[in-house]
Amino acid sequence: MFRDSVTAQLADLPLGDLRIFDTVDSTNDELARWAGQGAPDLALVIADAQTAGRGRQGRHWFTPPQAALAFSLLLRHPLEAGDHFPAPQTAASDQVGRLTALGALAVCQALESQYHLPAQIKWPNDVLLSGKKAAGILAEAQWENDRLLAVILGLGVNISPAAVPPATSLIYPATCVETVLGYPVDRLNFLHAILAQILQWKDRLAEPAFLRAWEDRLAFRGEWVTVSGETGQPTYPARLLGLDEQGCLKLQDPLGRPVTLRVGELHLRPGFEEV
Ligand code: BTN
Repeated sequence: MFRDSVTAQLADLPLGDLRIFDTVDSTNDELARWAGQGAPDLALVIADAQTAGRGRQGRHWFTPPQAALAFSLLLRHPLEAGDHFPAPQTAASDQVGRLTALGALAVCQALESQYHLPAQIKWPNDVLLSGKKAAGILAEAQWENDRLLAVILGLGVNISPAAVPPATSLIYPATCVETVLGYPVDRLNFLHAILAQILQWKDRLAEPAFLRAWEDRLAFRGEWVTVSGETGQPTYPARLLGLDEQGCLKLQDPLGRPVTLRVGELHLRPGFEEV
C-alpha cells in the first residue's frame, strides 16, 4: 500500500532508482549499504517508519508509521555539477554545508508552495514552523582525501502529531505540519514537492540565488542568540547577521566583533541567556 502509493506519486521525477520500505532501521543507513553496492546518483530510499532513525550528533530520530516523512537521497559528486564555485576555491568541507541547506531550503519552499506556510531555517539543519522544529536534515558525506565523492541527504519531516516526540525528550520545541496548518495533509504529495525542489536546486548550489534563498529564510536574523557547542562547553551570546559567501553563519559578539560559525557541533537558541 505505502509502496504502491509512493511509486505512483514519484513516477514523473527523474530519480536514479527507488527503494521503498514499510519499516527500516534508518533510511540513511539503508542507502549507505546500497551505495556501497553501486546505487546510482539520485537513488532514493524511503520508509513509512524507522526503528533506528538518526539525527545529528548521534541523537535518535523518532519515525512512527503513517505520521512522518523519512527519506534519503544519494547525490554523487554533488559539488561538481552545474556552475563551479568562484575562485579562490572554497574548501569542499565548507561547501558541504550547502547540501544540508539544500534539504532545508527544499522543505521550506515545499511548505510555502503547497500550504502557504512561512518556514524558517535554524542554521544549519532544522526547519522551523511557528518557531518550533518541524523537520531535520542529516547530510552524511563520503570523501576521498579532500574530494567529496557522495552525500546521503536524509530528511525527516513531522507531518502529523504522532510524529512529534514527547516534550520531555526534546532539546528544542517541536511541532508538525498538520498542527500548524490545522488540517490533514497528503504526505506523499508533499514528498513530491520537496524532491522537486531538491532536484531543481541541486546543480545550482554555487549560484548567488541559492545563497539568497537560503539566507532569506534564516531564523533569528538580526536577533540575539546563544551559541553553544557540545554539552558542557561554554555558551556565548551573539547577534545573528546572516550568511557569508561560503554559507557560514555571520554573527557579532556583544562588543561588535565579527564571529563566523562553520557547520559543526554548534547550536543556536533564540534569546539572550546569561553565561
Ligand atoms: C536532525 O534534526 O538531527 C536530523 C534528523 C534527520 C532525520 C532523517 S529521517 C530520514 C533519514 N534517516 C535517518 O536515520 N535520519 C534522517
